[in-house]
Amino acid sequence: AENVGILAIDVYFPSRYVDQTELEQHDGVSAGKYTIGLGQSKMAFCDDREDISSVSMTAVQGFMEKYNISYSDIGRLEVGTETIIDKSKSTKTVLMKLFEESGNFNVEGIDTTNACYGGTSALFNACQWVDSAAWDGRLALVVAGDIAVYGKGAARPSGGVGTACILVGPNAPLALEFPLRGTFMEHIYDFYKPNMSSEFPTVDGPLSVTSYVRAVDHAYSAYLDKLEKVAGIANPSLADLDYVVFHSPYTKQVVKGFARMVYNDFLRNPEAKAFAEVQQFKDILREESYGNKVLEKAFINVSKSEFASKTESSLLAARNIGNMYTGSVFFGLASLISQTPFEKLNGKRIALFSYGSGCAASTYSFRVRGDTSNIARTIDLAARLDKRIKVAPADFEKVMELREKTHNAQEYEPTGNINELQPGTYYLQKIDSKWRRAYGRI
Ligand code: ACO
Repeated sequence: AENVGILAIDVYFPSRYVDQTELEQHDGVSAGKYTIGLGQSKMAFCDDREDISSVSMTAVQGFMEKYNISYSDIGRLEVGTETIIDKSKSTKTVLMKLFEESGNFNVEGIDTTNACYGGTSALFNACQWVDSAAWDGRLALVVAGDIAVYGKGAARPSGGVGTACILVGPNAPLALEFPLRGTFMEHIYDFYKPNMSSEFPTVDGPLSVTSYVRAVDHAYSAYLDKLEKVAGIANPSLADLDYVVFHSPYTKQVVKGFARMVYNDFLRNPEAKAFAEVQQFKDILREESYGNKVLEKAFINVSKSEFASKTESSLLAARNIGNMYTGSVFFGLASLISQTPFEKLNGKRIALFSYGSGCAASTYSFRVRGDTSNIARTIDLAARLDKRIKVAPADFEKVMELREKTHNAQEYEPTGNINELQPGTYYLQKIDSKWRRAYGRI
């Protein structure tokens, strides 16, 4: 198949959010800690009416309706998520409920899990299937999303909820550049979910931040090496990438991630004119630069204008929804496409950096080869973000307490108000004595 990649994208996020300025006041932290320190404006959340199965169904059914695609056209469905309900039973199998009416049960793919990286692995699988001898001519669907929630404390404002749905096939407007990939994986306990009695992760915040930056170093460098060896580009650098979309735990981390790529460019080519102001960092070893705030600030400064043109427009969803774990990097792509006219994107290279704690990370890229205007219109991101309902921090906390109390509940009927859900949203009706879940749709 030719030009395999992304044919269409849509995103789902809940109708309610908490304002980060109000949350700062409510939590009694200094003004600006969440809004400037983390770079976040709003955080989406859901109550006990929504779980990973319901948000995935909402995303997929909404996608099929908006793009007018038939379930019988799908030959592969991959889910990337780290929000786990039935453990051995995948979210993919729950989504097969939506296929019943079409009679299509011949659908490959299951869930892929490693923190925020599962969606990227799912996308690679889907693209590789279409590119392989196993492909039967049908399309693939990738679902990437999570409910990101943290216990009370410093990590809580870095939560969020969202699911992206991505259609993969040949002759795609966003063609995956198959051989151009750099990956970094290692064993690290920065963020994981060993406590099955809680929805919250066990997280070492500072370690996760360093790990993210280390992963940028290695995955980006490996990507540049591919640009050189496979694409034949001499002295590859950010100049060869038109747009760079990042996994965003909060947008400040993306600013740092971009600056780190610039730092890596500097290490590869310290004599370049652009780096005249940062020569004092030439002799610091990369491995010894983690946590060096002076270096970090200097490269944030040097990278400001390039960040504004290559990355800023990909942050609309992340800033206003929060972290969606596996969905985050695709909400970034959706933000970029919905904010940039096709005339500007046409022919350009869009690179993605995906990071999942634990850790697994890749830098890879797409080439824009077809019209993206219909995708932009369908996502309609800014208008949809504006239509949401603001909830006071005290009420948000009550919802978090409710989720905590009812985690793993049996014979349970949710109490959340379904009238605040957007039309087309699936919601949890009941969990029975065997933890089987039943859903309705607004
Ligand atoms: N005004 C402006 N900036 C402020 C203010 C203020 N009033 N108060 C603090 N800040 C700044 C700090 O200077 C710091 O800036 P820096 O990053 O440039 O040094 C930033 O806000 C963060 O503040 P800290 O005190 O360093 O950290 P905090 O205790 O708020 O915790 C953390 C932040 C660790 C990210 C926490 O939110 C967390 O654990 N989140 C979950 C883990 C996570 O998201 N990791 C990222 C990668 S892994 C993943 O995706 C899950």
